[in-house]
Amino acid sequence: MDTELEVENLREQLDTWNYQYYVLDQPTVPDAEYDRCMRRLLQLEVSHPELVRPDSPTQRVGAVPLTQFHQISHEVPMLSLDNAFDAQDLRDFNRRLLERLGGAVEQLEYACEPKLDGIAVSLLYRDGQLQRGATRGDGTTGEDITLNVRTIPSIPLHLRGDGFPALLEVRGEVYIPTAGFEQLNTRAREQGDKTFVNPRNAAAGSLRQLDARITAQRSLEMCCYGVGLVNGGALPDHHDRVLDRLQEWGLRINAESGVVCGIDACDDYYEALAVRRESLPYDIDGIVFKVNDLALQQRLGFGSRAPRWAIARKFPAQEEMTRLLDVQFQVGRTGAITPVARLEPVFVGGVTVSNATLHNSDEIERLGVRFGDTVIVRRAGDVIPQVVSVVMERRPPDAHPISFPDRCPVCGSAVEREAGEATLRCMGGLVCAAQQKAAIKHFASRRALDIEGLGDKLVEQLVDEGLLENVADLYVLERERILGLERMGEKSADNLLLALEQSKRTTLPRFIFALGIREVGEATALSLARYFGSWETLSAAREEQLLEVDDVGPVVADHLVQFFDSPSSMGVVAALREAGVNWPDLELLPVEDLPLSGQTWVVTGKLQALGRNDAKRHLQALGAKVAGSVSARTNCVVAGPGAGSKLTRADELGVEVFDEQAFLALLADHGVTI
Ligand code: IVH
Repeated sequence: MDTELEVENLREQLDTWNYQYYVLDQPTVPDAEYDRCMRRLLQLEVSHPELVRPDSPTQRVGAVPLTQFHQISHEVPMLSLDNAFDAQDLRDFNRRLLERLGGAVEQLEYACEPKLDGIAVSLLYRDGQLQRGATRGDGTTGEDITLNVRTIPSIPLHLRGDGFPALLEVRGEVYIPTAGFEQLNTRAREQGDKTFVNPRNAAAGSLRQLDARITAQRSLEMCCYGVGLVNGGALPDHHDRVLDRLQEWGLRINAESGVVCGIDACDDYYEALAVRRESLPYDIDGIVFKVNDLALQQRLGFGSRAPRWAIARKFPAQEEMTRLLDVQFQVGRTGAITPVARLEPVFVGGVTVSNATLHNSDEIERLGVRFGDTVIVRRAGDVIPQVVSVVMERRPPDAHPISFPDRCPVCGSAVEREAGEATLRCMGGLVCAAQQKAAIKHFASRRALDIEGLGDKLVEQLVDEGLLENVADLYVLERERILGLERMGEKSADNLLLALEQSKRTTLPRFIFALGIREVGEATALSLARYFGSWETLSAAREEQLLEVDDVGPVVADHLVQFFDSPSSMGVVAALREAGVNWPDLELLPVEDLPLSGQTWVVTGKLQALGRNDAKRHLQALGAKVAGSVSARTNCVVAGPGAGSKLTRADELGVEVFDEQAFLALLADHGVTI
């Protein structure tokens, strides 16, 4: 084929795939195929530099760093939005509009859009080519960030199709999805770098980089919500239809956007999204309501700071200020010592928070936090509350530094930090009452030996009274001693003894998991059980054999070997078996005979009983391959609530879909109980 034609075809193909993936959220090809085409295009462009064009999909990687950003001025100012904090504010807004329109309309149609928490960006397309990207700045003057926006995959370098105005300024929000934010901060923590306080700061910090190659490495996305300057062409006369056109031209718009009639329906939209806020893959801080009819928008006009035809109804804040009262050091099951901030209770992210994690000593140092400081606490989604920064202006003169204990706060043993780890650990092992309690609670938990009636409080009581030191002691508990405990009746004691008796009959995967070996979670326990079949074979295995197991890397293998080599650990196992804890051995299946061998599965949406990652690990342990996108080769899809395009695609292709209930039933059929 003629090289020029091949280059053109490759670009068109890659642009289409990008559009399907980033704008429509409907991936159609495996990554490998996409990468192959991209490599081929790069190869051709290297050998034929005359064919390189600035809007080629290869031209996104970032360029030579700038020394400063140039200022640009917005011909049409980028305004802000007025806020509504409750349903009444929203009602007042609607009433004001109806009054202004002088009774010409009875009910207004509103476009409703999630208010993404990122930074506002303007994109200027001339004859369909991306010419300039700019920040909002003060609304009149912003910064030229063209090189940076060019690296964001959801921003097209040229518009698709036709019919677009010769000059089109598109506006929207650049943001970082929650997963990208957490990844970024985890990496920063591991490397001892400064973490970002929230996704909005992370987006701003990633976008305003003089070196666009850094921007290119951050998972930024853009959602468009309107237009600015438009010249040489017309757009539809309703806001929602303008957005539809933008989408046709290759720009991403928010999939949650909708149009409703009247202010009551706006309330409904707000309430419905408030419920789903936590499960969205990005942060939103409210809902924006806009009069949908552009002619009415024009009649309503602008105030000095914001349009009169739009308002943002805010959600309760996810960040609040409070005071750090104290720091307690908690000792976990593996001896890890976690500093926990005790806070003056504060209402944030919909709940009252009085504790927040401080992770480890590095984090305390990085935050520079002291006793008595005023701090900003963040609670977003299901993530545990975090202290994200210190309000220095409010530091009291007597604020004193926090020092880490050099002995375990529970058992007084030495603490150590393993090479390359940020975590300090108590070296007391099972001598430490905190570790004893945590290990016993884990052993008794629902997914382990499932000892009903042995709750956390009771475990603490039993350890504190000296009746228990390790899990094997559970099976020699005497009725009289149990009855001697405070608030323990005959019935409860008998129930506990019965539950203990019943728990003796278990399964090998549960037993392995229950032992609480470091880094050995449920899915790894299952893989180990399936691979080795019996405790004898497993506990005799050496590192090389362990590494053969799916899911087991050098770290896990090392923890396993340490466990098998530890006389005290193996003593506990022997005592458990002596007491009658038993399970059937597993039939050994070659890997290709696992129940789901040869199948490809996709997991999407939010699962309730188990996380998506756990679902994937269970599937892998059963032999399935887990893919990121649905294609004709997909055998089954597990879809939780909130599943979107992947579910639609599965339906289109006639792929079998399991809801969570059905999926759990399938796992149970294969011996996995959640
Ligand atoms: S419309 C003239 N729509 O919120 C109207 N703004 O508080 C201007 N934002 O600077 C904005 N999502 O960065 C609009 N769907 C949305 C939005 C949105 C987020 C941001 C935007 C703006 C800020 C105003």
